Parts: sequence; structure tokens; C-alpha cells
Amino acid sequence: MTLGIIAAMSEELEILLQDMSLEVKKVKANMTFNKGKLWGKDVVAVVCGIGKVNAAICTQILASEYKVDKVINVGVAGGIGKEIYPGDIVIADNLVEHDMDTTAFGDPHGQIPRMDTFDFKCDTELVELARKACKSIKDINTFVGRIVSGDEFVASIEKIQWLEKEFSALSCEMEGASIAHVCYLNNIPFVIIRSISDNANNGAHMDFEKFTPIAVKNSTALLKEIVLSM
Ligand code: ADE
Repeated sequence: MTLGIIAAMSEELEILLQDMSLEVKKVKANMTFNKGKLWGKDVVAVVCGIGKVNAAICTQILASEYKVDKVINVGVAGGIGKEIYPGDIVIADNLVEHDMDTTAFGDPHGQIPRMDTFDFKCDTELVELARKACKSIKDINTFVGRIVSGDEFVASIEKIQWLEKEFSALSCEMEGASIAHVCYLNNIPFVIIRSISDNANNGAHMDFEKFTPIAVKNSTALLKEIVLSM
């Protein structure tokens, strides 16, 4: 079993790479694929860069060239809703691309036209492993629900209110749904786990800078628990 681990930003993978015993490092599509052993498992860990296109290219390489059996995406995200704060964890059970818009043809926001699904569902076993791993880590609040992704750093109350109303989303980021989309097309079980770095509101970019290190620490601790339990 080979596990693909994707993060969008180098700081999200930094701690994890220190624990990894590297076998081969290859650059493809300007992304570095680190193949080796991590916490006793065969993994390929990679920083994909920001946004849906980078994430999709990276996931397809993991599928086609590394033949990974499962994919986990970790990183930070904006929290939606009053009870979610920086440092909290959101485990996606499904994802939607919030910037997909063919409403002119009568489709709902987020629907990819001519696709046989509205949302991309995470693997139930991986969600359960993540949920259990969260329970074993003290002082981390965990939520399970929908994450929405789009090529936008959300930083306004109007936009989060829209994302909440339109999609009942718990969190927003810029890669998860795209990774989910590629995994769906390739039949690869996946889960997206995000640690909240900001509340996607007017001061989001400042909170992001402040809370990202804590958020990264939390999601790495969680990932370790998950990988150890696999
Ligand atoms: N990642 C972290 N915070 C985010 C936000 N507010 N919008 C989109 N992606 C994010």
C-alpha cells in the first residue's frame, strides 16, 4: 500500500518531511515528489502549490506515475460558521468546487456540468480513521462535513455567508475539491483534512499569517496518528 500525501504549501509539509526517510526524490511538473518511508508506511509526499490546477496536476501524477492506493491531503483552511476557530480541525466527508458556475444553464452553483455527481465523497474508512485519530489528540476541536474549494482566498463576510447558505460548508480552501475530483476519476480513496488558520472574514489574511504555524502543527500531529493507525 502506497499512500500519497499532498500539501499545498511547503510549510504544511515541513515537519512531516523531517520525519521521513527519503528513498527517491523526483521533480515532475515543477513539483518535488518525495518517495520513502514515513512512520512505518510507504508514502509519496509532495507540495502541489496553491490552487485547483496545481492540485489536480499533482494528484494525477500520484495516480498515473506512482500508482498510489490512497490519498490524504492536509493543510490549512478558512473556517465558516461561528463555532469554528483557528486551530480547529475540519475533516471533509465531501467536497464541492464552489467557483464552478454554469447556473446560466440551470445548474446549481458548484455542479460540474455533465458529471454524474454534485459532490466528491471522501472514503468513509479514511474519514473514520481521521475522526478516531482526532479523538486521541487532546485539546483539538474536530468537525466533519463539507469543505468547498475555489481559486480564491476568501476574505469577506459576504462570501462566507454565501458559501454557508449555498453549500452548508464548514470550511473553504483552494485545493481539496480538485484533489477529490481527480481521485474520483481515478477511483482512489481519499480524505481531505484541514486545520483552520482564519475565519475567511475581513482580517483573514492577517489571521492566516498568525495562526498557520499552529494549524500546521495540529494537522501534522493528526496525520501522524492516522498513518500510524493504517
Ligand atoms: N486557506 C486558508 N484560509 C483560506 C481562506 N480564507 N480562503 C481560501 N483558502 C484558505
